[in-house]
Amino acid sequence: MATATRAASLVSIRDLSRAEMERVLEVAAEMGHARSDELHGKQVALLFYEPSTRTRNSFLTAVHQMGGTVCGFDNTEGTSVQKGETLHDTIKMFEAYSDAIVLRHPRDGAARWAADLSGVPLINAGDGKNQHPTQTLLDLFSMRATQGRLDNLHVALTGDLKYGRTVHSLADALAEFRGNVLHLVAPPTLEFPAQHAAELRARGMEIHQHRRLEDIAREVDVLYVTRIQRERLPDETEYEKVRGSYRLTAATLEGAKDNMRVLHPLPRVDEIAADVDATKHAYYFEQARNGIPVRKALLRLLMLTDELAGEK
Ligand code: CP
Repeated sequence: MATATRAASLVSIRDLSRAEMERVLEVAAEMGHARSDELHGKQVALLFYEPSTRTRNSFLTAVHQMGGTVCGFDNTEGTSVQKGETLHDTIKMFEAYSDAIVLRHPRDGAARWAADLSGVPLINAGDGKNQHPTQTLLDLFSMRATQGRLDNLHVALTGDLKYGRTVHSLADALAEFRGNVLHLVAPPTLEFPAQHAAELRARGMEIHQHRRLEDIAREVDVLYVTRIQRERLPDETEYEKVRGSYRLTAATLEGAKDNMRVLHPLPRVDEIAADVDATKHAYYFEQARNGIPVRKALLRLLMLTDELAGEK
């Protein structure tokens, strides 16, 4: 439970060096889906201010597979947040009840703010449009599993590149490796933030913009598809303008590299047609399953060892 010094946390993928990311992947591969009792007697608080299927339940499964217990909430209904309790006070309560906190929050920067006041390790499970570092680590795990490397990859990011925290985190991580090339495919109103792209280029990353999936599907090693996030757009008119603008079908994938894999953080709505599921390129369901060993590795490294400094 809470200690006097600030605990090592995972707030942004930028907190991790290449060696630290590789260490997480190595431990995840070693742990797999096996059960242990290494979290016996320890409790993890899952605080989800936004909906989640995969992140919350894979953390829940990870804790259970390691013999620990969980507390927290999967929405704020029925909690004192409804009475006006602040994030500050909620974090102070759960650091008293638990040995680590997993936080999803709609506000950019909420995880950093919470980690700075938490006396137990805090893991960012997604903050607004900012970062989703545990998703990125399972994305890297999936890329390494399917491509055999994390260097010299051509990766297309498509969909909502403006508000999508998964693509923002993933682009940061890929810049930490050597020779990766990003191909950005988005409608004009949902383009990857220019400032962020400039920062990545300054770190040596090659980035190309495209308008059509068909222009790039045959060139890339990984096609990372994301949902148009209705809930983050300013209004319904904006959503109607862009919905369905990038729909991946099996026909789009004809001529793609044999080993090319389609990833998606999920949930999908209609951006990947059902006929893609049966192709050799579909990897998104295995990708989601990889969330369990990756999150187990993070729990071990942050709660039981001091191997992750938490910040570079
Ligand atoms: N990928 C992801 O964050 O999914 P959930 O919103 O279901 O957790």
